[in-house]
Amino acid sequence: MIAASLHNVTRMYGAGAAAVPALCDVSVEIGANRFTVLRGPSGSGKTTMLNLFGGIDRATSGRVIVAGQALDSLQDRTLSDFRARHIGFVFQSFNLIPVLSAYENVEYPLALLGGPKAKRRADVLALLDAVGVAQHAHRLPGELSGGQQQRVAIARALVTRPALVLADEPTANLDSATGTAIISLMRTMQRERATSFIFSSHDPQLVASADDVVDIRDGRLVSVERMTESEVPQ
Ligand SMILES: Nc1ncnc2c1ncn2[C@@H]1O[C@H](COP(=O)(O)OP(=O)(O)OP(=O)(O)O)[C@@H](O)[C@H]1O
Ligand SMILES: [Mg+2]
Repeated sequence: MIAASLHNVTRMYGAGAAAVPALCDVSVEIGANRFTVLRGPSGSGKTTMLNLFGGIDRATSGRVIVAGQALDSLQDRTLSDFRARHIGFVFQSFNLIPVLSAYENVEYPLALLGGPKAKRRADVLALLDAVGVAQHAHRLPGELSGGQQQRVAIARALVTRPALVLADEPTANLDSATGTAIISLMRTMQRERATSFIFSSHDPQLVASADDVVDIRDGRLVSVERMTESEVPQ
Protein backbone atom coordinates (compact mmCIF):
# COMPACT_ATOMS: atom_id res chain seq x y z
CA MET A 1 0.00 0.00 0.00
CA ILE A 2 1.17 3.48 -0.90
CA ALA A 3 0.62 6.44 1.46
CA ALA A 4 1.91 9.13 -0.89
CA SER A 5 3.88 9.44 -4.09
CA LEU A 6 5.63 11.90 -6.37
CA HIS A 7 5.60 11.40 -10.14
CA ASN A 8 8.26 13.30 -12.09
CA VAL A 9 7.99 16.23 -9.71
CA THR A 10 10.01 19.38 -10.29
CA ARG A 11 9.80 22.45 -8.05
CA MET A 12 11.56 25.52 -9.42
CA TYR A 13 12.33 28.61 -7.38
CA GLY A 14 12.97 31.95 -9.02
CA ALA A 15 12.18 32.98 -12.58
CA GLY A 16 13.91 33.05 -15.96
CA ALA A 17 17.67 32.54 -16.06
CA ALA A 18 17.84 32.72 -12.24
CA ALA A 19 15.43 29.78 -11.80
CA VAL A 20 16.85 26.87 -9.79
CA PRO A 21 15.22 23.52 -9.12
CA ALA A 22 14.78 22.69 -5.42
CA LEU A 23 13.52 19.32 -6.66
CA CYS A 24 14.25 17.96 -10.11
CA ASP A 25 12.19 15.18 -11.75
CA VAL A 26 11.69 13.19 -8.55
CA SER A 27 9.52 10.07 -8.54
CA VAL A 28 9.13 8.17 -5.27
CA GLU A 29 6.56 6.04 -3.46
CA ILE A 30 6.14 6.24 0.31
CA GLY A 31 4.75 3.05 1.87
CA ALA A 32 1.59 3.14 3.97
CA ASN A 33 1.86 2.55 7.74
CA ARG A 34 5.60 3.06 7.62
CA PHE A 35 8.12 5.35 9.28
CA THR A 36 9.98 7.00 6.40
CA VAL A 37 12.89 9.39 6.76
CA LEU A 38 14.10 11.88 4.12
CA ARG A 39 17.84 12.25 4.40
CA GLY A 40 20.16 14.63 2.59
CA PRO A 41 22.54 17.54 3.13
CA SER A 42 21.30 21.04 3.86
CA GLY A 43 19.63 22.47 0.75
CA SER A 44 19.00 19.06 -0.84
CA GLY A 45 15.22 19.55 -0.99
CA LYS A 46 13.86 17.77 2.11
CA THR A 47 11.61 20.59 3.31
CA THR A 48 10.50 21.25 -0.26
CA MET A 49 9.43 17.60 -0.58
CA LEU A 50 7.55 17.62 2.74
CA ASN A 51 5.76 20.83 1.77
CA LEU A 52 4.64 19.25 -1.51
CA PHE A 53 3.34 16.13 0.27
CA GLY A 54 1.58 18.41 2.75
CA GLY A 55 -0.11 20.51 0.07
CA ILE A 56 1.55 23.61 1.58
CA ASP A 57 3.37 24.13 -1.71
CA ARG A 58 2.62 23.12 -5.29
CA ALA A 59 4.88 21.38 -7.81
CA THR A 60 6.04 23.34 -10.87
CA SER A 61 5.45 20.14 -12.86
CA GLY A 62 4.63 16.52 -12.12
CA ARG A 63 2.01 14.94 -9.87
CA VAL A 64 1.75 14.66 -6.08
CA ILE A 65 -0.59 11.96 -4.77
CA VAL A 66 -1.56 11.60 -1.09
CA ALA A 67 -3.99 8.94 0.16
CA GLY A 68 -5.04 8.29 -3.44
CA GLN A 69 -5.81 11.96 -4.15
CA ALA A 70 -3.87 13.93 -6.80
CA LEU A 71 -3.21 17.23 -4.98
CA ASP A 72 -2.39 19.16 -8.17
CA SER A 73 -5.97 18.84 -9.36
CA LEU A 74 -7.43 20.44 -6.20
CA GLN A 75 -8.34 24.13 -5.94
CA ASP A 76 -6.74 26.00 -3.02
CA ARG A 77 -9.87 25.77 -0.86
CA THR A 78 -10.39 22.06 -1.46
CA LEU A 79 -6.70 21.47 -0.90
CA SER A 80 -6.77 23.13 2.52
CA ASP A 81 -9.83 21.10 3.44
CA PHE A 82 -8.05 17.90 2.32
CA ARG A 83 -5.02 18.93 4.37
CA ALA A 84 -7.11 19.53 7.50
CA ARG A 85 -8.71 16.08 7.24
CA HIS A 86 -5.89 13.86 6.08
CA ILE A 87 -2.51 15.37 6.99
CA GLY A 88 -0.86 16.17 10.33
CA PHE A 89 2.24 18.36 10.73
CA VAL A 90 5.04 18.42 13.31
CA PHE A 91 7.59 21.21 12.97
CA GLN A 92 11.16 21.67 14.14
CA SER A 93 10.18 24.71 16.22
CA PHE A 94 6.97 23.09 17.57
CA ASN A 95 4.80 25.98 16.22
CA LEU A 96 2.18 25.85 18.95
CA ILE A 97 -0.16 28.83 19.26
CA PRO A 98 1.33 30.75 22.21
CA VAL A 99 -1.93 32.14 23.62
CA LEU A 100 -3.70 28.76 23.68
CA SER A 101 -3.19 26.11 26.36
CA ALA A 102 -1.81 22.67 25.50
CA TYR A 103 -5.39 21.38 25.53
CA GLU A 104 -6.63 24.17 23.24
CA ASN A 105 -3.71 23.70 20.84
CA VAL A 106 -4.58 20.02 20.40
CA GLU A 107 -8.30 20.76 20.15
CA TYR A 108 -7.79 23.44 17.49
CA PRO A 109 -7.54 21.23 14.36
CA LEU A 110 -10.54 19.20 15.57
CA ALA A 111 -12.56 22.35 16.23
CA LEU A 112 -11.90 23.45 12.63
CA LEU A 113 -13.50 20.21 11.42
CA GLY A 114 -16.53 20.68 13.71
CA GLY A 115 -18.23 17.79 15.47
CA PRO A 116 -19.61 17.44 19.01
CA LYS A 117 -17.63 19.14 21.77
CA ALA A 118 -17.85 16.21 24.19
CA LYS A 119 -16.32 13.82 21.65
CA ARG A 120 -13.60 16.38 20.94
CA ARG A 121 -12.81 16.65 24.61
CA ALA A 122 -12.49 12.88 24.99
CA ASP A 123 -10.18 12.65 21.95
CA VAL A 124 -7.97 15.53 23.10
CA LEU A 125 -7.62 14.23 26.66
CA ALA A 126 -6.86 10.69 25.44
CA LEU A 127 -4.10 11.98 23.17
CA LEU A 128 -2.57 14.30 25.76
CA ASP A 129 -2.46 11.27 28.02
CA ALA A 130 -0.94 9.05 25.30
CA VAL A 131 1.89 11.53 24.69
CA GLY A 132 2.49 11.97 28.42
CA VAL A 133 1.48 15.59 29.04
CA ALA A 134 -2.07 15.20 30.40
CA GLN A 135 -1.02 16.83 33.67
CA HIS A 136 0.06 19.98 31.76
CA ALA A 137 -3.13 20.33 29.68
CA HIS A 138 -3.93 23.79 31.10
CA ARG A 139 -0.45 25.27 30.56
CA LEU A 140 0.55 27.66 27.79
CA PRO A 141 3.37 26.54 25.42
CA GLY A 142 5.73 29.08 27.04
CA GLU A 143 5.27 27.24 30.34
CA LEU A 144 6.40 23.90 28.85
CA SER A 145 9.87 22.51 28.07
CA GLY A 146 10.88 21.92 24.45
CA GLY A 147 10.26 18.17 24.77
CA GLN A 148 6.83 18.77 26.32
CA GLN A 149 5.95 21.25 23.57
CA GLN A 150 6.91 18.69 20.93
CA ARG A 151 4.70 16.09 22.68
CA VAL A 152 1.78 18.53 22.48
CA ALA A 153 2.63 19.16 18.80
CA ILE A 154 2.58 15.39 18.13
CA ALA A 155 -0.83 15.13 19.82
CA ARG A 156 -2.06 18.04 17.69
CA ALA A 157 -0.78 16.35 14.51
CA LEU A 158 -2.56 13.08 15.34
CA VAL A 159 -5.84 14.26 16.83
CA THR A 160 -7.72 14.30 13.51
CA ARG A 161 -6.52 10.74 12.77
CA PRO A 162 -4.72 11.78 9.59
CA ALA A 163 -3.58 9.24 7.00
CA LEU A 164 -0.20 10.94 6.81
CA VAL A 165 1.94 12.78 9.36
CA LEU A 166 4.77 14.99 8.12
CA ALA A 167 7.59 16.11 10.40
CA ASP A 168 10.38 18.49 9.39
CA GLU A 169 13.41 17.81 11.62
CA PRO A 170 11.22 17.16 14.67
CA THR A 171 14.15 16.49 17.02
CA ALA A 172 16.51 19.24 15.82
CA ASN A 173 15.72 21.63 18.68
CA LEU A 174 15.86 18.98 21.41
CA ASP A 175 18.75 17.54 23.42
CA SER A 176 19.62 13.98 22.50
CA ALA A 177 17.86 12.26 25.42
CA THR A 178 14.65 14.22 24.78
CA GLY A 179 15.05 13.57 21.04
CA THR A 180 15.24 9.83 21.71
CA ALA A 181 12.08 9.95 23.80
CA ILE A 182 10.26 11.92 21.09
CA ILE A 183 11.36 9.46 18.38
CA SER A 184 10.17 6.53 20.45
CA LEU A 185 6.86 8.30 21.11
CA MET A 186 6.32 9.00 17.40
CA ARG A 187 7.19 5.40 16.57
CA THR A 188 4.67 4.10 19.10
CA MET A 189 1.97 6.46 17.85
CA GLN A 190 2.69 5.51 14.24
CA ARG A 191 2.28 1.80 15.03
CA GLU A 192 -0.73 2.15 17.31
CA ARG A 193 -2.63 4.38 14.93
CA ALA A 194 -1.50 2.67 11.72
CA THR A 195 -0.53 6.06 10.34
CA SER A 196 2.20 6.81 7.78
CA PHE A 197 4.95 9.16 8.97
CA ILE A 198 7.43 11.04 6.79
CA PHE A 199 10.27 12.98 8.44
CA SER A 200 13.23 14.94 7.36
CA SER A 201 16.21 14.53 9.61
CA HIS A 202 19.96 14.72 10.05
CA ASP A 203 19.58 12.84 13.33
CA PRO A 204 21.30 9.40 13.10
CA GLN A 205 18.96 8.03 15.79
CA LEU A 206 15.91 9.00 13.81
CA VAL A 207 17.40 7.57 10.63
CA ALA A 208 18.23 4.33 12.48
CA SER A 209 14.63 3.93 13.65
CA ALA A 210 13.14 4.32 10.15
CA ASP A 211 11.44 1.61 8.06
CA ASP A 212 12.51 3.34 4.85
CA VAL A 213 15.28 5.83 4.14
CA VAL A 214 14.87 8.13 1.13
CA ASP A 215 18.14 9.81 0.17
CA ILE A 216 18.06 13.05 -1.77
CA ARG A 217 20.91 15.23 -2.98
CA ASP A 218 20.82 18.47 -4.98
CA GLY A 219 17.08 18.04 -5.52
CA ARG A 220 17.40 14.57 -7.00
CA LEU A 221 16.41 11.19 -5.63
CA VAL A 222 19.53 9.11 -4.91
CA SER A 223 18.06 5.94 -3.38
CA VAL A 224 15.25 4.42 -1.37
CA GLU A 225 16.40 1.85 1.18
CA ARG A 226 13.85 -0.48 2.76
CA MET A 227 15.19 -1.22 6.23
CA THR A 228 12.30 -3.39 7.46
CA GLU A 229 9.75 -5.72 5.91
CA SER A 230 6.20 -4.44 5.47
CA GLU A 231 3.87 -5.43 8.26
CA VAL A 232 0.46 -6.73 7.35
CA PRO A 233 -1.79 -3.64 7.16
CA GLN A 234 -4.15 -3.44 10.15
N1 LIG B 1 11.32 30.09 -1.02
C1 LIG B 1 12.45 29.80 -1.65
N2 LIG B 1 12.95 30.61 -2.61
C2 LIG B 1 14.07 30.31 -3.30
N3 LIG B 1 14.79 29.19 -3.10
C3 LIG B 1 14.36 28.34 -2.16
C4 LIG B 1 13.17 28.59 -1.38
N4 LIG B 1 12.99 27.56 -0.52
C5 LIG B 1 14.02 26.70 -0.74
N5 LIG B 1 14.82 27.16 -1.72
C6 LIG B 1 16.02 26.49 -2.24
O1 LIG B 1 15.66 25.16 -2.59
C7 LIG B 1 16.69 24.25 -2.21
C8 LIG B 1 16.12 23.18 -1.30
O2 LIG B 1 15.72 23.77 -0.07
P1 LIG B 1 15.08 22.94 1.12
O3 LIG B 1 14.63 23.91 2.14
O4 LIG B 1 14.05 22.02 0.59
O5 LIG B 1 16.35 22.11 1.64
P2 LIG B 1 16.50 21.16 2.92
O6 LIG B 1 17.00 19.84 2.42
O7 LIG B 1 15.23 21.16 3.71
O8 LIG B 1 17.68 21.86 3.74
P3 LIG B 1 17.92 21.96 5.34
O9 LIG B 1 18.51 20.66 5.78
O10 LIG B 1 18.89 23.09 5.46
O11 LIG B 1 16.61 22.28 6.00
C9 LIG B 1 17.80 25.07 -1.57
O12 LIG B 1 18.78 25.34 -2.55
C10 LIG B 1 17.09 26.35 -1.17
O13 LIG B 1 17.98 27.44 -1.19
MG1 LIG C 1 14.74 21.80 5.62
